[in-house]
Amino acid sequence: MRNHLKVNLRERSYPIFIGGGLLKEAGSLLRRVSKAPKVCIVTNAAVNRLYGGALSASLKRGGFGVVTTLLGDGERFKNLKNVEKIYAALYRAGFDRSDAVLALGGGVVGDMAGFAAATYMRGVDLIQFPTTLLAQVDSSVGGKTGVDFLKGKNMVGAFYQPKLVVCDPDVLKTLPRREYLCGLAEVVKYGAIKNERFFSWLEKSADSMLDGDEGALGKAVLESCRVKAGVVERDEKESGERAILNFGHTFGHGLETALNFRRLKHGEAVAVGMAMAARLSRILGLLDANSEKRVENLLSRLGLPVSPPAGVSAAEVLRGMEHDKKILSGRLRFVVIDKIGRAFVREGVSKEMVLSACGG
Ligand code: NAD
Ligand code: GLY
Repeated sequence: MRNHLKVNLRERSYPIFIGGGLLKEAGSLLRRVSKAPKVCIVTNAAVNRLYGGALSASLKRGGFGVVTTLLGDGERFKNLKNVEKIYAALYRAGFDRSDAVLALGGGVVGDMAGFAAATYMRGVDLIQFPTTLLAQVDSSVGGKTGVDFLKGKNMVGAFYQPKLVVCDPDVLKTLPRREYLCGLAEVVKYGAIKNERFFSWLEKSADSMLDGDEGALGKAVLESCRVKAGVVERDEKESGERAILNFGHTFGHGLETALNFRRLKHGEAVAVGMAMAARLSRILGLLDANSEKRVENLLSRLGLPVSPPAGVSAAEVLRGMEHDKKILSGRLRFVVIDKIGRAFVREGVSKEMVLSACGG
């Protein structure tokens, strides 16, 4: 199944291609949108071993000169020092503003390569070739790029839209199971915040999603990108609606902080956070108990946790949230839903309600 859609942002518009086998067609897809003589593939050693050769061959067939630069694998490498390494590789290979940077990897590679592309010589073309489910449905689309700085996650960065996004669900077959499930948490998020039909389809297709069924996965990536593209088109720089993409993330971040970023992966913490956000929505009198249960049940069926690991108290989760940058000037502010498929931001939520949503 091949699909494509467009992110409409006037002169910054770009296509997203989705389909099995697109790795081998990246060169011709890129030729349609870019005259760049050279492309720098930014990736890490593990992903390069799996997909670097096929991608590079495809780009060469498309007439591009190709260089590859490797980053360390993991969030701890997402910093300015490693962005400098990309600049150095570009500089040494004689890249100028007519050339392009291609991110081949998960969100870590995508965010770093994106920031390097946004800033090298004041901006060169960026192509996203996401290889994790999270990156295919979230981080490769929408133009947020950046790195962690001091203790702040994504503290330094830029909004910089890619020229092209290519999602090949076949590359997800090599993804570790837990990473795959973390991506599914974001997929559920799109149904919960913006598309009830998609959410219902996910309920019916949970087994196919768990099996990595090609058709189901292709549809899930397409629908997720469609929701994200729509939100980004209406609010590119997050002055309003885009905040709904953080559904479950404030609770999730509080939980990650309480756990010192151990035990749970980010996507797993977000899954727990979405269950808590649904509970908060019900406590606030916005959401009916049945819809709250549907959110929790779907996450559980997809192998995701919906409550904190034993030994973590609601008070610890709340404390973890208090430094979250999404909480404006000390006021508790949450993305809530009043039905499946409709989300908005609610300010001034009381600590008691938050504690209760955390299971306290
Ligand atoms: P990640 O980039 O660390 O990738 C997860 C792991 O999977 C890594 O070890 C990676 O090497 C490996 N991997 C990647 N593709 C693979 C494949 N096809 N087969 C086998 N292994 C593969 O993690 P992630 O979850 O993709 O991204 C998380 C990052 O994304 C965070 O830094 C987060 O801040 C960022 N993010 C950004 C946005 C945005 O809008 N820019 C949105 C959400 C998250
Ligand atoms: N992942 C949140 C956003 O792109 O805004």
